[in-house]
Amino acid sequence: MVKRVAVTGAAGQIGYSLLPRIAAGEVFGPDTPVILQCLELTPALGFLKGVAMELEDCAFPLLKGIVCSDDPRVAFADADLALLVGSKPRSAGMERKDLLLENGPIFTGQGQALADVARSDVRVVVVGNPCNTNCLIAMNNAKKIPAQNWSAMTQLDHNRATAQLAQKAGVDSTDVEGVVIWGNHSNTQFPDWQHATIGGKAAADVIGDVPWLKDVFIPCVQERGKAIIEARGKSSAMSAGSSALDHARYLFQGTPKGQWTSMAVASDGSYGVPEGLMCSVPVTCPGDGSFEVVRDLEFSDFGRGKFQTSIDELVGERDTVQALLG
Ligand code: NAD
Ligand code: LMR
Repeated sequence: MVKRVAVTGAAGQIGYSLLPRIAAGEVFGPDTPVILQCLELTPALGFLKGVAMELEDCAFPLLKGIVCSDDPRVAFADADLALLVGSKPRSAGMERKDLLLENGPIFTGQGQALADVARSDVRVVVVGNPCNTNCLIAMNNAKKIPAQNWSAMTQLDHNRATAQLAQKAGVDSTDVEGVVIWGNHSNTQFPDWQHATIGGKAAADVIGDVPWLKDVFIPCVQERGKAIIEARGKSSAMSAGSSALDHARYLFQGTPKGQWTSMAVASDGSYGVPEGLMCSVPVTCPGDGSFEVVRDLEFSDFGRGKFQTSIDELVGERDTVQALLG
């Protein structure tokens, strides 16, 4: 059965790295044809046309159609998966939450359009920043779509944390398992090594340097987006696109056996997170589009304090956008 994938901001830099990989079958696997349904702002439709021409020129065997539109009701029609990327990125000197008042309103109309025209079992993944609270806005404007169908992307932070531990230990990233990103996709997030293993042994024992973990690893992951902007002059796009692919692939093809990943999902109250808040927690995915929160992980006092700071920030963001919550 062909899958319809809506991508917003499709002519942007993340869209450019994401679309060919979806068309190559990386989200739904090598046996599932896809139709790409791209949404852009009206002034960017010309650029989008160029992207669509390039996609045609790739002659992807699984790509069965490309829709380009500036109307969310066209782009989201019958969508199985919607990747909400389209929004403004921050520039140097800004925090992601500084984008809230500008980007937040995008997600009211898109939430309503998804509820009206997407499949009732659509999965929605929000990438556009600040992604946790933008997802909260869209979800609250699309009450017909169950809360379990929504998630925001902290996979990039998860991948960054995994890569930093691997680099420090001098091993492959595949040797590192069990990191968790708790909280917000912001510089308050808690990248947690305390449940992680490296080559099957406790990460803290392998690293053997708690001050590095607390004072170098945590801020490095928290501030990696900013460091990329400073180095590249633009926000991350290749790594963001690749992580969005990982996130969507885990949803539809499952997390590897015995492993979890991190996603911001609507809280059911577990881990003391206020119900409904979009908060990053560890999840496993069976591969049918759903996820299961990993429960009962324990925190040190240090870890709990870090997580609480990020929860408090999410509560503050929710209060800021109260008027947009439908
Ligand atoms: P970009 O500026 O290159 O592209 C964004 C595109 O979105 C543009 O083409 C623009 O025309 C389009 N757009 C804007 N408003 C839209 C709307 N209402 N509907 C449809 N399209 C719209 O930006 P980018 O680098 O692709 O980043 C996109 C977003 O992703 C930013 O908010 C960025 O901060 C965020 N991001 C998130 C993560 C994460 O880990 N969650 C990582 C990287 C970037
Ligand atoms: C990132 O983490 O790289 C993105 O969210 C872009 C940003 O603004 O940091």
